[in-house]
Amino acid sequence: MAEVGGEPGTGTVATTTYLQRFTVAYEYPVVFTEGLFRPDNPVLAHTLARLEPDRRHRCLVFLDEGLLAVRPGLAREIEAYARHHARTIELVAPPLTVPGGEKIKNDLFHIEWMMGLVYDHRLDRHSFILAVGGGAVLDAVGLVAATSHRGIRLVRVPTTVLAQNDSGVGVKNAVNLRGSKNFVGTFAPPFAVLNDLDFVELLPARDKIAGMAEAVKVALIRDADFFRWLERNALALAAFDRPAMAFMIRRCAELHMHQIARGGDPFETGSARPLDFGHWAAHKLESLTRHHLRHGEAVAIGIALDTRYSVLAGLLEPGAEERVCALLELLGFRLWNAALEARTAEGGLALLAGLQEFREHLGGELTVTLLEAIGRGVEVHAIDEALVVRSIGWLAERARP
Ligand SMILES: NC(=O)c1ccc[n+]([C@@H]2O[C@H](COP(=O)([O-])OP(=O)(O)OC[C@H]3O[C@@H](n4cnc5c(N)ncnc54)[C@H](O)[C@@H]3O)[C@@H](O)[C@H]2O)c1
Ligand SMILES: [Zn+2]
Repeated sequence: MAEVGGEPGTGTVATTTYLQRFTVAYEYPVVFTEGLFRPDNPVLAHTLARLEPDRRHRCLVFLDEGLLAVRPGLAREIEAYARHHARTIELVAPPLTVPGGEKIKNDLFHIEWMMGLVYDHRLDRHSFILAVGGGAVLDAVGLVAATSHRGIRLVRVPTTVLAQNDSGVGVKNAVNLRGSKNFVGTFAPPFAVLNDLDFVELLPARDKIAGMAEAVKVALIRDADFFRWLERNALALAAFDRPAMAFMIRRCAELHMHQIARGGDPFETGSARPLDFGHWAAHKLESLTRHHLRHGEAVAIGIALDTRYSVLAGLLEPGAEERVCALLELLGFRLWNAALEARTAEGGLALLAGLQEFREHLGGELTVTLLEAIGRGVEVHAIDEALVVRSIGWLAERARP
């Protein structure tokens, strides 16, 4: 602790400032496995026992209702797993079902209900909460775990492509308030993340495709080799070939983890968010379409738009935008939505308000990631609206039959 400022007691007002400073190292395993809840798979038991191998760990489990619809025996599987590993795991209650998708994030009632259960079952800061589900359930349960007793150990089991390759491996949680997306949330690294490809296979095709947009995104800003891999394997991915999906998810998760750990700003205190390439437009398209577009579908359009913009702005070699669009289309994305041309009551282009909203969410200066090469993002602080309009025109032209 350093003393800064003037000598105490001199002058009329005595002021002493101590600059408090410490750093905390975070560490959490991100595991890729199959058959996570098969009794002979030791991953979950080992994960819970990682810090205290000789204890029996109390554990409360929340399951995504949408996942249960396609895997109705899951609660029983988890109970059987806990019985098999009874020396390590004590379920404080049978696994509990929570609403899936944005429903769980749209009403604080669900948060309070889960907190009540944490209280009723006397979980403490060494107990575990296990969240099994899509990104929305992980976000809501994550908030409960981060704030009950100021932080209970959270093990995430992401069950969608998006949650496995992007949101589930990160350090954030949040729910919505008054329609404002992710308004109530914290930065809270999990205790562990356990990815099981079997869950992804249960997803409808549309959701499998949607999650791949984040892989294209992170390849474009960080890893040209991965982009070329995606191009070579686009048809296998479009057919949901299991090994191709497994590699795509793992590499994408790895790149996200790398950015969080090495990007210098894991808790996003600055104005930049490089992982949000293509997202300023995507967020706006999601709300303009009242969430009829999935997040990943909107991101794919946002990527196409900002890649064309990068070319028009002279940052990126012409031709690259066609390559990016071709990959996205091979994967199954449609790169047009009428909301791109929606107008406000005043007649302006509604999409452009997305830039201001993007800045407001981060705070500070507008910072948008564009491309200077395939595999290399670049940050800019001003967007030329006329070029956005021309980029939309280009997408409209391409979409014409
Ligand atoms: N915390 C972060 O860093 C972060 C980052 C990106 C996105 N998010 C959030 O993630 C959410 C989107 O997550 P998502 O794309 O994973 O979708 P989702 O959680 O909204 O789930 C989509 C639907 O799939 C169902 N489902 C879940 N797993 C399934 C499975 N294996 N088989 C069949 N159905 C299944 C759910 O019940 C739901 O109905 C958004 O709320 C977004 O804000 C958070
Ligand atoms: Zn995203």
